[in-house]
Amino acid sequence: MARARTVHRCEECGAVTTRWAGRCPACGAWNALVEEIDLASGPRRPAGAAASAPGWVPGLGDRPVRMAEVEAQSARAVPTGMAELDRVLDGGLVPGSVSLVAGEPGTGKSTLLLQAAGALAASGRRALVVSGEESKAQVQARARRLGTLSEGLWVASETCLPDILAAMAEVEPDLCVIDSIQTLHDPALESAPGSVAQVRHCAQRLVATAKETGAAVVMVGHVTKEGSIAGPRLLEHVVDTVLTFEGERHQGLRLLRAVKHRFGPTGELGLFEMAGAGLVEVADPSAHLLGDRRPGISGSLVLPAMEGGRPLLVEVQSLVMEAGNPAMARRSAQGLEAGRIPMLLAVLERRAELKLSSMDVYVSVVGGVRVSEPAADLAVLLSIASATRGGAVADDTVVFGEVGLGGEVRQVVHTPRRLAEAQRLGFRRAVVPASVSDGPPGLVLEKVTHLVEAIERVAAH
Ligand code: TYD
Ligand code: MG
Repeated sequence: MARARTVHRCEECGAVTTRWAGRCPACGAWNALVEEIDLASGPRRPAGAAASAPGWVPGLGDRPVRMAEVEAQSARAVPTGMAELDRVLDGGLVPGSVSLVAGEPGTGKSTLLLQAAGALAASGRRALVVSGEESKAQVQARARRLGTLSEGLWVASETCLPDILAAMAEVEPDLCVIDSIQTLHDPALESAPGSVAQVRHCAQRLVATAKETGAAVVMVGHVTKEGSIAGPRLLEHVVDTVLTFEGERHQGLRLLRAVKHRFGPTGELGLFEMAGAGLVEVADPSAHLLGDRRPGISGSLVLPAMEGGRPLLVEVQSLVMEAGNPAMARRSAQGLEAGRIPMLLAVLERRAELKLSSMDVYVSVVGGVRVSEPAADLAVLLSIASATRGGAVADDTVVFGEVGLGGEVRQVVHTPRRLAEAQRLGFRRAVVPASVSDGPPGLVLEKVTHLVEAIERVAAH
């Protein structure tokens, strides 16, 4: 096959050059030239097509239809059979769609997708797993260990894009897993696998193939702690769906989130636990997250947080101690918005007159969950106050509310769902903003207007 002509386009100014250079000859930007197939040359471009449209794919023009007659795409979603994954995808995988599962190495992306492929294959569909990182035998061994081997499960160990597309043509899968996009390369480009040029080009070809064949394609994208060079960020606008898969390597809990979803809401959260035989879906996350909680410890408190559309009871913990060096008191926040902690500490010092400037303050949300909503303010503040004073908060109490700079407690969204979850798990008391009108039976509401009042209520109990 004759190699397509490639050019180098400047990521900064869009200028096109035939040869790669360290610096763009047009705008002078460094390391901005990225190789791509020259659409202005060769037989791929029909007459009249815009030569300048990057990523343009022939024959895939979208025909207009009456708006009222547009078929609801979510209605076409095919459940994978993994309930937590299907929940995050708002039903399942849409045929012809392309999704990206982004996460750090070792979080369990390969395992998740192998289990999803297995579940889909078990329902009589066909799934092709393309691994660029493992041999066929290795993938098979893993599938066997996960108990997902079945008739409809296919495997290829391949990194060369044209060969992968050929494999897809041969197998005609309903789902094609690409593990990972960073390992792929198309010999039509000279750039190395994992480079911006290869990653983008291969992803675009996969998008075109998915649309043509109706296969749902799910790609793995590695992210490094430092933020990857060529990976997920680059692909976000190319794919229909971006899922992030996170979790501490040393903790069992894994969180799957849709951060972009063309066929449904984003923000939905799926929870898994990495166990001996793969990922196990966590059906009752609140119970799971509170499972190891020890009652009667100062600084420990339960917050009904919202993750996606889902209430989640999490334990907030604080530890406050005299700083070794008062001039450099430490502040650490795990699972919380770190930037909000200094503000909350200032409110606590000024409005509740707790002396904290020479203290080390550690706050953490237990279980690997990240809470970034302001509704956590009151729980964080009461947790720090409890840790500072040494008294424990009653075990049967949950706390939520936003706290303003004046120390006033403000209302938050989704109050009924937070309260219902607290009641479901047997809590009896909720410290809430004064504007909350009523809660579920059996749950006593302690309505507070100010931080100081909340501290007193919690301590008095
Ligand atoms: P893996 O799916 O390979 O992660 P990724 O593709 O994101 O890099 O799995 C990550 C880790 O999970 C691996 O180091 C071992 C562990 N693991 C289990 O604990 N149990 C299992 O059943 C499997 C398959 C993996
Ligand atoms: Mg992997």
